[in-house]
Amino acid sequence: MTKGSIAAKRRKTVKAKARMYRGTERSLAQLARVLREGGIVAVPTETVYGLAGDALNAAACRKIFKAKGRPANDPLIVHIWDMAQLDELAVRNDAVEKVARAFWPGPLTVVLPKRAVVPDLVTSGRASVAVRMPKHRLFLELLKRCGRPLAAPSANPFGYISPTSAAHVRDSLGSKIGHILDGGDADIGLESTILDLRDPKKPTVLRPGAISAKEISRVLGRRVGAAQKTKKTTARGERTRGKGMASGALAPGMLSKHYSPRTTITLHRRLSAAIVKTLPADEVAVFLFKRPGMSEAVNVFWLSECGDVRRAARRLFGMLRALDGGQWKRIHAELAPGADGFALAINDRLIRAAAKW
Ligand code: TXA
Ligand code: MG
Repeated sequence: MTKGSIAAKRRKTVKAKARMYRGTERSLAQLARVLREGGIVAVPTETVYGLAGDALNAAACRKIFKAKGRPANDPLIVHIWDMAQLDELAVRNDAVEKVARAFWPGPLTVVLPKRAVVPDLVTSGRASVAVRMPKHRLFLELLKRCGRPLAAPSANPFGYISPTSAAHVRDSLGSKIGHILDGGDADIGLESTILDLRDPKKPTVLRPGAISAKEISRVLGRRVGAAQKTKKTTARGERTRGKGMASGALAPGMLSKHYSPRTTITLHRRLSAAIVKTLPADEVAVFLFKRPGMSEAVNVFWLSECGDVRRAARRLFGMLRALDGGQWKRIHAELAPGADGFALAINDRLIRAAAKW
């Protein structure tokens, strides 16, 4: 083989691109077969896109860890489409029945004692498993057709921003995976709320999401705690402190630094026109909401025109990705006002995105 043809072959390998599928009958049948045979497929969910594989097949799940560059100590969420599958994977209690009735299918993941059938690889050797019944029509359809519970972390390289569109998945994992099911833009745009229900008397939110602790408390009829925070925030230029991995944290994937663009992020409790005026030309400002009289400028963006925190959440990750192309030296982002619901979830992601370690 000549030098030229070796180089051409290498180029071809590097450029191997994932195939995009629409949710047609034919493609769903084909993708279900890929999954049943131990392959992996990027799938749309209502929260963020996931990278799915048969949760009961350790070899399939190993491919997920490899494609993402995910450390083995960060367990996967298993997705199901009915309660019989939950019983196959985990030990139920009254609390999970209540929250499942109220919030499934939807953006809530529960952590429960696991059954032996779940490979240790999926749970990183833990005695518990995280389970979610998603709401996206195409993902539910795929789950039904392949007949297996599907392990699926967010479909991004480990530590990077979660994808909220099929194009995001292709951009960052397209050379590592073969199949992407395009189900449109994610409706919620932030990862699910994770609720630890191992002890039904001590429900604890491990990761805030679209479903708030308050809503869960109402359904359970008891107070819902929040996992211990390991970070400190200051008014401007907030930085997350702590070790790379929260010591003793229940969700090891909840690193201080996570969801991070390459560009440095500086957080502000409130951005103002005065701050924007002082920015150098290579720094950009992202307001949460458009303010009256706010002027258009190349380095000013907002997540919602009309003060809609849900819409801001939906656009957050897409905005961070769009601004992370190397053209900006620093992103100034505004924290959401409030300490519950979408505001809490947005701030959790922003603080981790801004963290240095
Ligand atoms: O919305 C979502 O949850 C998306 C979509 C695809 O469903 N998935 C997602 O997965 O965000 P991932 O892997 O990016 O985040 C899952 C988190 C990690 O922080 C992991 O440590 C935690 O769930 N986790 C998984 N199993 C756990 C367990 N048994 N106990 C505690 N935390 C667990
Ligand atoms: Mg993730």
